[in-house]
Amino acid sequence: MSELIPVVTIDGPSGSGKGTISKLLAQRMGWHLLDSGALYRVLGLAAEHHGVSLEDEDALEVLAGHLDVQFQADLAQEGVQVVLEGEEVTAAIRSDACSQAASVVAAIAKVRVALLDRQRAFAELPGLVADGRDMGTVVFPDASVKIFLTASAEERARRRFNQLMHKDTGANLQKVLNDIKVRDERDMNRAASPLKPADDALVLDSTGLSIDEVLARVVQEVAGAAGRIGDIEDNC
Ligand code: DC
Repeated sequence: MSELIPVVTIDGPSGSGKGTISKLLAQRMGWHLLDSGALYRVLGLAAEHHGVSLEDEDALEVLAGHLDVQFQADLAQEGVQVVLEGEEVTAAIRSDACSQAASVVAAIAKVRVALLDRQRAFAELPGLVADGRDMGTVVFPDASVKIFLTASAEERARRRFNQLMHKDTGANLQKVLNDIKVRDERDMNRAASPLKPADDALVLDSTGLSIDEVLARVVQEVAGAAGRIGDIEDNC
């Protein structure tokens, strides 16, 4: 990664709001966005399509190395379309089954190594906002600004539940909370790149804060780093 390319990493557990904040920050700065969780989700889906067991680490490593995935700007939705082997899977990778599969494949060290270069290739001018679990600790250790966004498990479950209510009337808050706790446990206690703040990250607890309040705090941090990262100030 070139030191001339500014990178802001936003790590944290599911439901902390980092996806929303990362997207808004990238839009505001006019920078690229890496949704690294989507890569692990796509890998979980690809394993299902190809009949690869989530326990077959060697086959998953090969699949990760050859993943035919594209992230295409979706101008109508102001978002990104995810295309796996020519098929649009943007919504499919958000299913609960894909969330759990992603969490399993993401715990495999050689899978993570196989996806490293692909993630680092997202660092292009004018800059990158990288959203994930190990962006600041492993993938972009030299990032200009590192944020670790968190919130209580109960608040994260409520947010997820409210999202699901729009799509799925069978959603159950207790089940959502349990799923979040299972994933937290797996993501934080795995040996390979566990979820934890980088030593030099700003830890931000978003419990009880609005999206605007969190974004303002993150923008303030990015603006504070302006002296260190070239022309960043112009966009803040
Ligand atoms: O952010 P997300 O919910 O889309 O992530 C899906 C899973 O992938 C989640 O269990 C954590 C894992 N993940 C990871 O281990 N490292 C990343 N950089 C991003 C996601």
